[in-house]
Amino acid sequence: MLLRTAAIVPFILLVAACSVTSDTQPKAKPTPETPAPKPLVQISGVAELEDINPDPDVVEVNLNAAPADLEVVPGHVTKMLSFNGSTPGPMLHARVGNRIIVHFTNNLAEPTTIHWHGLRIAPEMDGNPMVVAPVEPGATFTYDFVAPDAGTFWYHPHLDTIEQIPRGLYAPIVIEEKDAPVFTAERMHVLADTRLTAAYQHSPFRTPMDMMMGRFGDRIVSNGTTTPVSGTIARGAVERWRIVNVAPARSMDIAVEGASFRVIGTDGGLLPEPYSASRVSIAVGQRFDLEVKADDPNATDVKLVGHFPTQDANGKTTDQVIPFADYTVDGDVTAEAPVYPTVTLPEIPATFDERKLVLSDMQDPQGNVVMTMNGMDGRDLPMAMFTQGQPVRFTIKNSMMHAHPFHFHGQFFQILTRQGKPANEPGLKDVVYLDGMESVTITTNFENPGEWMYHCHIAEHAEQGMMAELEVMP
Ligand code: C2O
Ligand code: CU
Repeated sequence: MLLRTAAIVPFILLVAACSVTSDTQPKAKPTPETPAPKPLVQISGVAELEDINPDPDVVEVNLNAAPADLEVVPGHVTKMLSFNGSTPGPMLHARVGNRIIVHFTNNLAEPTTIHWHGLRIAPEMDGNPMVVAPVEPGATFTYDFVAPDAGTFWYHPHLDTIEQIPRGLYAPIVIEEKDAPVFTAERMHVLADTRLTAAYQHSPFRTPMDMMMGRFGDRIVSNGTTTPVSGTIARGAVERWRIVNVAPARSMDIAVEGASFRVIGTDGGLLPEPYSASRVSIAVGQRFDLEVKADDPNATDVKLVGHFPTQDANGKTTDQVIPFADYTVDGDVTAEAPVYPTVTLPEIPATFDERKLVLSDMQDPQGNVVMTMNGMDGRDLPMAMFTQGQPVRFTIKNSMMHAHPFHFHGQFFQILTRQGKPANEPGLKDVVYLDGMESVTITTNFENPGEWMYHCHIAEHAEQGMMAELEVMP
């Protein structure tokens, strides 16, 4: 924990109380002239990509990446990069099994790709620049895939991620279950942080500190602005809150105040059993779905907060509590308990192949830091080979003092142990947090064939070598 504390740069509290980001407006009721809308639930907090295809089984959208002047800090313009003019970009919203067609145009001054983080699709659609050539400035690419799993995911570039993601290129994805539980309301919360100059522009990238720790921001960003999301919540409501951590380097501890909550979903979708927690640690890249029950008769607000350990001048650590969202309790409802579909996780195989992955660093002959995987620059590692359905248990050992949120493309895994003890982190994941010097074991069956990246989700670490490729043979 100490290390995680040390990793927090001094926090400037700049949560403006003046302006508000209000809930998205309810959609217009369908009239006989317009085709019936696809039966997707309304999710407030982030606008959605417009589905231009009337086929109920197809979600077809236009997406572009382009520079935009945006008010991340209300009242101040920052030169950002955007998807369709906003950050976060518009939410991609579909139902499991839907075909998704994304007509993407790159209006950036540099090449890019889109990675659909967590979607177990084909490698050619995964945004891996080593599998398919990047989309050049002015060029287009059509991503076309079927949504294989329900859950909360996100999309972001997979080129120059040190800059492109923190400059604003990130957006949530919701893939609904076939038999989705019904809630009073659903909300999206995309959590990030940012580091701006006095003139409200991005502070320099790739500083020596960033290259070591990743880029820590000094302001919390919630659904694209430094203002907490606001709105109202009815007393008695039972809501689904989806949380995505898109911060470049900051893993966060979150909690709900003024209501009780349970964790109902992780990176890979709904859990077999919801569980209660007072706080949830959400690593960079991870997602959690919460069931929030506004059941406190005395609460005037229900808040999503982050707990941030901060050091004062004397080195004393205190918890700074910063709201990501602050909903005023207004009105009363009687909500029925949501009925969760039956979910079974893949069985933990009794026999499996064992692999070791040691994360470390060294200096190359020029004196540059190289972040290593099993002693080598990950990009020089021979491609690790697996067969589809092969049960593999990885022991991932972090031999550095710095934390690594470690991500596998195209697969889910379960976390078995942390520091040799049962991990108690249920659910399917595609990112696992490794604190300094920590060791975890994870299990996967490599269900999705193809060539996949696996890497630390801190872009600076990945670009210094903590990124490699593996192949799953069909
Ligand atoms: Cu969100 Cu290769 O990552
Ligand atoms: Cu790392």
